[in-house]
Amino acid sequence: MAKDTLSVTDNRTGKTYELKIENGCIRAPELRTIKTGPEDFGLMAYDPAFLNTANCKSAITFIDGDKGILEYRGYPIEQLAEKSTHLEVSYLLMNGELPTKKQLEEFTHIITHHTYVHENIKQFMDGFRYDAHPMSMLASTVAALSSFYPEAKNVKSKEIRRIQMMRLIAKMPTLAAFSYRHSQGLPYIYPNNDLSYVENFLTMVKSIGRTNFKPHPALVKALDILFILHADHEQNCSTTSVRVVGSSEVDPYSAVTAGITALFGPLHGGANEAVLRMLREIGDKKNIPDFIKRVKGGDGTKLMGFGHRVYKNYDPRAKVIKKACDEVFEVTGKNPLLEIAIELERIALQDEYFVSRKLYPNVDFYSGLIYEAMGFPVDFFTNLFAIPRTVGWVSQWEEMITDSEQKIARPRQVFTGARKRDYLAADKR
Ligand code: CMC
Repeated sequence: MAKDTLSVTDNRTGKTYELKIENGCIRAPELRTIKTGPEDFGLMAYDPAFLNTANCKSAITFIDGDKGILEYRGYPIEQLAEKSTHLEVSYLLMNGELPTKKQLEEFTHIITHHTYVHENIKQFMDGFRYDAHPMSMLASTVAALSSFYPEAKNVKSKEIRRIQMMRLIAKMPTLAAFSYRHSQGLPYIYPNNDLSYVENFLTMVKSIGRTNFKPHPALVKALDILFILHADHEQNCSTTSVRVVGSSEVDPYSAVTAGITALFGPLHGGANEAVLRMLREIGDKKNIPDFIKRVKGGDGTKLMGFGHRVYKNYDPRAKVIKKACDEVFEVTGKNPLLEIAIELERIALQDEYFVSRKLYPNVDFYSGLIYEAMGFPVDFFTNLFAIPRTVGWVSQWEEMITDSEQKIARPRQVFTGARKRDYLAADKR
């Protein structure tokens, strides 16, 4: 009869071990029983960058990278993008179920009434240079929030955890908007409780010289869709950073700061910014073949917005964004870089280099074009990713905190350096 076990023979000793298979995994600590003798530490798994290591059990987001499937709590991303809102999706991610009408009203009320930040934050923000990157400002001010809510370190209390999670979701648009206003030399605009989450954010960013500023409904809708698409993506680099830092039981503001700084990198959330810079550098459709040649030439140039650790098929989020582009461009006029992007995608998807490596457009390939058409500066794109990803970070953080199998994250190493040697005074070296 078939058994859910793995038999491993250690050819160094000739001994055979039987390891349990559970959820398609073996437990790496069980490898430690495989030893050449009592002095041997036991076998470890060597897996730089966690290419094939599950670090947790999670019930939040499901991805099938080969089939291009993304589901939040079982709901396909395409359905949520079409029918839901970012705040409803936030409730779903945090609680596991879609809210009833009353639950959504209560949740929306709480988020709306926690959008203000302490006045001292404004002075803190003012300390940055005029050209500070908005992601640096966002990371620093989120870290600073932990000093305003010292009770947040009580991570074992569900009640205290929940209020910090909602504060983070509520305040992130305010802090992002403040970072934008600072970098533009504009006065900060306070949140307005009469507006929806996205309307409020757009107003805090865009309103100049008017008390009755109203963002275009089509742009509000498009940004809400983008927020839904970015809300969570299981164990990516920033979420893993939040889990790892949070595993020390530090407060969630500090843990989420780690997520923001991880997201800043060009291989992660910073890719949307990098795509725009790349499209500008290409400048014209006629330059695409030369650019592709450079990417394939191995000088380190990458086709930004292409490729993904998990998706080896079209990123389902990229499909939804491509559709949203049309609706935005109807209001804003076409982004001239769109034609270059479409042609670049067409050529890359026929090229053996990209086909054989299963490199398809990811979420960042088209999102930057929308952000630019909406009038956001390139530097601000990753903040637009961090706002909606906050709910993913805090939901994953809480799942980690309440998981009895989790401990402080602490990987092993394969030591390759020098062993014990005697110190020599500087003049003897
Ligand atoms: N352009 C050219 N070649 C690429 C690209 C690319 N964008 N992505 C991967 N490759 C090549 C890579 O050089 C390697 O080739 P070879 O087998 O000859 O060495 C092969 O494809 C496999 O790539 P990898 O680097 O082993 O894949 P990975 O899973 O480590 O990296 C990635 C995934 C997203 C970091 C990478 O595809 C990449 O750098 N893409 C560009 C940056 C980007 O768009 N990032 C956004 C990711 S989606 C949003 C998010 O999660 O933040």
